[in-house]
Amino acid sequence: MLSLKEKIEKISKVFDIPKVCSIPVNTKYIAKYYKVNQLAYSLFHTVSNRIYMGVSRDGVYKSDDLLEAARTVDYYIQETKAEKVLELATGRGANSLYVASIHPNINFSGVDISDGQLYFARKAARKVTNYVPEIGDYHNLAKVEDNSIDVCFVVEALCYSMNKKKVLAEVNRVLKKDGIFIIFDGYRNKIEDELSSTETTAVKLTEVGMAVERFEEYQSFHKTISEMAWEIIKEEDVSMFVLPTMRRFEKLAKGFFKFPSVARLLAKVLPPEFTYNAISGYLMPSLIEEGIANYTITILRKK
Ligand SMILES: C[S@@+](CC[C@H](N)C(=O)[O-])C[C@H]1O[C@@H](n2cnc3c(N)ncnc32)[C@H](O)[C@@H]1O
Repeated sequence: MLSLKEKIEKISKVFDIPKVCSIPVNTKYIAKYYKVNQLAYSLFHTVSNRIYMGVSRDGVYKSDDLLEAARTVDYYIQETKAEKVLELATGRGANSLYVASIHPNINFSGVDISDGQLYFARKAARKVTNYVPEIGDYHNLAKVEDNSIDVCFVVEALCYSMNKKKVLAEVNRVLKKDGIFIIFDGYRNKIEDELSSTETTAVKLTEVGMAVERFEEYQSFHKTISEMAWEIIKEEDVSMFVLPTMRRFEKLAKGFFKFPSVARLLAKVLPPEFTYNAISGYLMPSLIEEGIANYTITILRKK
């Protein structure tokens, strides 16, 4: 396997690295990213719209591994005898659709900031009668009543927030007492000072490629939740178990960077928000393996 340095050299044969690193990632960029990637996500991820990491506990990727988040939500729906479930950043709605189909008598709602994603979520919602996806920013859940939700969850999307404390406070407000908040997400594993310049560049490139302004260090996120009114039920680092899914994206990216002249041509004619995905796909497994990033399941209970 190539080192991070070697991978960055390969990337530099196709992309202007300082230019990519200087792209300002903000809410507008995130919305554009998901609009541009509508077709790409359908092609490169699964047809079931499960656009997230599988948790392959035996180290071998199986499509069933993509159900870990939905199964976790299902577990807490049963544990809390839930009546109302809310998904933040519901995306294409794959997880909510899965649990809504199992529990036809429970109300599911979802918010997402991107119309591009909601187009698919609305299509999914037509398959059931109990899932309502709506446009919305998870920093402001004003439409949701206080103490009304039993289980709230977010899969690979809290990383887009630069103010997670606000999201956590909103979720705390809308959850009933003893309500559950489930978070599946990626984080930095090291603080800035611990990173070499190659590692800093690799992290920045990965962030831009995924339209994330800045991945927060898990230690910092842990501090935030510890200072708020949450009971931490579970914090599980499943980094090694998401590697098999990441390897699939890495394989596609390797194909892209194998022929730099073809890749350069593609990068010229296709939107950057699309081609930069190859950068993240290429670097992500190395960031995990070298302990620079992690993927953690966090489960909180409202006190
Ligand atoms: C990687 S996708 C994951 C989608 C979905 N959770 C899933 O698992 O399929 C990230 C999602 O976060 C959404 N998102 C980003 N920032 C958001 C915000 N501030 N409020 C609501 N949704 C947001 C994006 O539009 C996108 O649909």
